[in-house]
Amino acid sequence: MIKTWILSAGLIAGSAFLATAADAPKYTTKEVMKALHKGDDAVAKKVSKGEGTAADFDLLVLYYTALPLNDPPKGDVKSWQEKTVALLDSAKALKAGKAGALDQYKAAVNCKACHSVHKPD
Ligand code: HEC
Repeated sequence: MIKTWILSAGLIAGSAFLATAADAPKYTTKEVMKALHKGDDAVAKKVSKGEGTAADFDLLVLYYTALPLNDPPKGDVKSWQEKTVALLDSAKALKAGKAGALDQYKAAVNCKACHSVHKPD
């Protein structure tokens, strides 16, 4: 009886741990900015010019997946969710080769629109 209880408590704790690990963001927002947005040769610039490759789209999806899971360092969580989910969706659309995906991405990756609300000074 006691053994069963210990076993099931262990299973519950184990699955809670797994769920947390799966939902944990892999990268901080700073890391995402550095990996995709920073510099003249940034992946985001290349993709915005319409020169993105399949490997670039994979990178976008990989890093942008972390953004909605991170808390915004500043500003409203709802606004952060809308902007970061739009960005991730546009990257997925690029990866899937959907029509209009590039325009969707260019609108979503608007640096100023996001920084003015969510980037600390
Ligand atoms: C969806 C929101 C969002 C978009 C879009 C966005 N950024 Fe950011 N960016 C942030 C936030 C938030 C920070 C601050 C991160 C922190 O301090 O933790 C940041 C920080 C940065 C940093 C500083 C990173 C560091 O080393 O501290 C750079 C550089 C940067 N962004 C470049 C860009 C560029 C260039 C674009 C447009 C191509 C862009 N970002 C688009 C949210 C965004």
